[in-house]
Amino acid sequence: MSESPVLLLTGATGPVGEAVAALLAKRGDRLLLTGRNTDRLAQLERTYGTPGQVETFAADVTTAEGATAAADQAEHRFGRLDGLIHMIGSFQAGPSPIIDHGRLLAVNFLSAVHATHAVLPRLGNGGRLVYFGSPLAQEPLAFLGGYAAAKAALLAWVRALSHEVKDRGVHANAIVMTMADTPEARRDRPHADFGQAVTPDQVARVVAFLTGEASDGVYGALVPVMGKFGFSSALAGPPPGKRP
Ligand SMILES: NC(=O)c1ccc[n+]([C@@H]2O[C@H](COP(=O)([O-])OP(=O)(O)OC[C@H]3O[C@@H](n4cnc5c(N)ncnc54)[C@H](OP(=O)(O)O)[C@@H]3O)[C@@H](O)[C@H]2O)c1
Repeated sequence: MSESPVLLLTGATGPVGEAVAALLAKRGDRLLLTGRNTDRLAQLERTYGTPGQVETFAADVTTAEGATAAADQAEHRFGRLDGLIHMIGSFQAGPSPIIDHGRLLAVNFLSAVHATHAVLPRLGNGGRLVYFGSPLAQEPLAFLGGYAAAKAALLAWVRALSHEVKDRGVHANAIVMTMADTPEARRDRPHADFGQAVTPDQVARVVAFLTGEASDGVYGALVPVMGKFGFSSALAGPPPGKRP
């Protein structure tokens, strides 16, 4: 890519989204940041916004209509589209009967399908697709089955998608991350050991790798970005609301 890439960042209103936006904006990428939370988008616009380089657009990308509107805006504003960084996600812990499995699947998995279908026809050779999974997809823990199942669906689909699109030069990869070290996570999990967690900035640096030429040979990878986390670690802790 000779010109700086144009990337659609969905779910940019979360903590990972901000770190990714900050780092890729610094690299000179052109970014459209989307989310439903207009206050948060306005904050991001004030901090990182530069017309023609970093812009925001309010959309609910969990729907096909919202996803198409977001991709249309990216192409319309920047004249092209080179990739999608799909950060929309939702977490819920608790016994299976109280979990909203439909919502978890819609937010964590189907939103990725909608966003990808909207973006894919616009991508050229070298296009980039980045998604976010969890190690719980492989190692589901008690009270986290709904979230684990939704992330497992996402990661299986990303691996299949990667084979579908790689022959046209499009890279589909996922980051597999554990709980990030954010002020909200520290507030919700006072007993967790955040020395074992990753920071949003560390995650963002892997996104930069997966959207840059350093990963030209990487297709269909599930990249663990888990800090010093292990399933016996204090970071795993009990689910929220189940503290000793
Ligand atoms: N942070 C972590 O510790 C962690 C750990 C493992 C995996 N991940 C995954 O990494 C990705 C980024 O993490 P993050 O912490 O930055 O994400 P996040 O804050 O949990 O979610 C990102 C965005 O998703 C959108 N979203 C949430 N629920 C939604 C719903 N019901 N309908 C539509 N949109 C919804 C929200 O944007 P709007 O409200 O503006 O629409 C939110 O800002 C997510 O996929 C997450 O599951 C995160």
